[in-house]
Amino acid sequence: MEVDMRIVMIGSGYVGLVSGTCFADFGHEVVCVDKDQRKIDALNEGIMPIYEPGLEQLVAKNVAEGRLKFTTELESAAPFADAVFIAVGTPSRRGDGHADLSYVYAAAKEIGQLIRPGAVVVTKSTVPVGTGDEVERIIRSVRDDFEFYVASNPEFLREGAAIDDFQRPDRVVIGVNEPEAAHVLNEIYRPVTTNSAPMLQMARRASELTKYAANAFLATKICFINEISDLCERVGADVGDVALGIGMDKRIGSSFLNAGPGYGGSCFPKDTLALLKTAQDHDASLRIVEAVVAVNDSRKRGMGRKVVHAMGGDVHGKSVALLGLTFKADTDDMRDSPSLAIVQTLQDAGISVRAYDPEGMANARTMMTEVTFCEDPYDAMTGTDCAVIATEWAAFRALDLQRTKDLLKEPLMVDLRNVYSRAEMEGHGFRYHAVGH
Ligand code: UDX
Repeated sequence: MEVDMRIVMIGSGYVGLVSGTCFADFGHEVVCVDKDQRKIDALNEGIMPIYEPGLEQLVAKNVAEGRLKFTTELESAAPFADAVFIAVGTPSRRGDGHADLSYVYAAAKEIGQLIRPGAVVVTKSTVPVGTGDEVERIIRSVRDDFEFYVASNPEFLREGAAIDDFQRPDRVVIGVNEPEAAHVLNEIYRPVTTNSAPMLQMARRASELTKYAANAFLATKICFINEISDLCERVGADVGDVALGIGMDKRIGSSFLNAGPGYGGSCFPKDTLALLKTAQDHDASLRIVEAVVAVNDSRKRGMGRKVVHAMGGDVHGKSVALLGLTFKADTDDMRDSPSLAIVQTLQDAGISVRAYDPEGMANARTMMTEVTFCEDPYDAMTGTDCAVIATEWAAFRALDLQRTKDLLKEPLMVDLRNVYSRAEMEGHGFRYHAVGH
């Protein structure tokens, strides 16, 4: 494949690493830069800093074919780049929930001194409206002798499905204020846009807001179905039926209607908060998003209480096997995972927790105390009073139910991801509690 563009990706976290690798796979020459020497050394040895299906192989292939490199030295790569993407973290700022943009601005300052004339600097990190303006101002302050362009290109990939999402996106959004920047981004994305993903070109501020609006809308959909699922439990309806019934209306759409323990992860919690801050700064009110944040926070602890209730309320000294710790399946990410609040609520009630997660335990160990981490789901369930499925890992969909029942003190399962059917579980003699039916 012909090499099209020279790209530098600043930040080799989730978004930077996946985007950089996929750009290389499109045929571009990509240098991924990160300040963390250990991370770069590991990547150069083929060791991934995150668990993401298919990533290791795709990195290896593109490194072997000479299109993908990892370095800590921005100064050697940036001067040759047609486009420099900023994909550093924008965590919630401690104390006020604003997005912390210090890494983005530090990157802007550094590359200002290194880029070549006509280069496009692209924010891929999720950044509040107006960040592109500030990035442009920062670069201009060190680089007023030639033209360069600042664009926004938000990333919509999901953890666990990141490569597929990147290679086959529903759309590519670019926020550009100049045709030169649009041209470069169109070239970079040509392999996906010719494969029928629409390229949406808009003004930079609209593009920045699109990312937050998308995440807030999806978070709203989840909270909506979660509240409907509570009502289903009260009135004796099955939320799966209701979700199917509403989702087939094309205006609603059937995805993101799985009731569960509440959303977590690196995006929805942080981005909904940051969006509220943007609204506040501009004297606008986003009451729906405010409600979503509150509903989701209380849902997570509510799931712990649901377990306590299923165990009969008198739980002091009892034990629970928690199956799944990550915020969703196919990731090792524990950030804002519902399991954190669930464990806390169970421990507050005097329950001891034995836990197992296929990929998340290394991260979980740094975030949870007094939890016994186990070898596998069966080890976790041995001698406990209740099994709780908190993450929808494939391994928990295929439990040996007879063995499960034999290992538990009580045949009690609380399935917070609706992995099993009531008929199946009751057929095996379990007392089965799910979400929304
Ligand atoms: C999300 C967005 O989907 C993605 O576009 C954006 O770029 C980053 O944030 P991610 O956080 O990786 O991606 O996970 P996602 O699959 O969207 O799930 C987010 C949370 O919502 C998880 O906790 C998941 O369990 C929960 N969820 C999702 C539900 O509870 N029900 C659903 O129907 C869907």
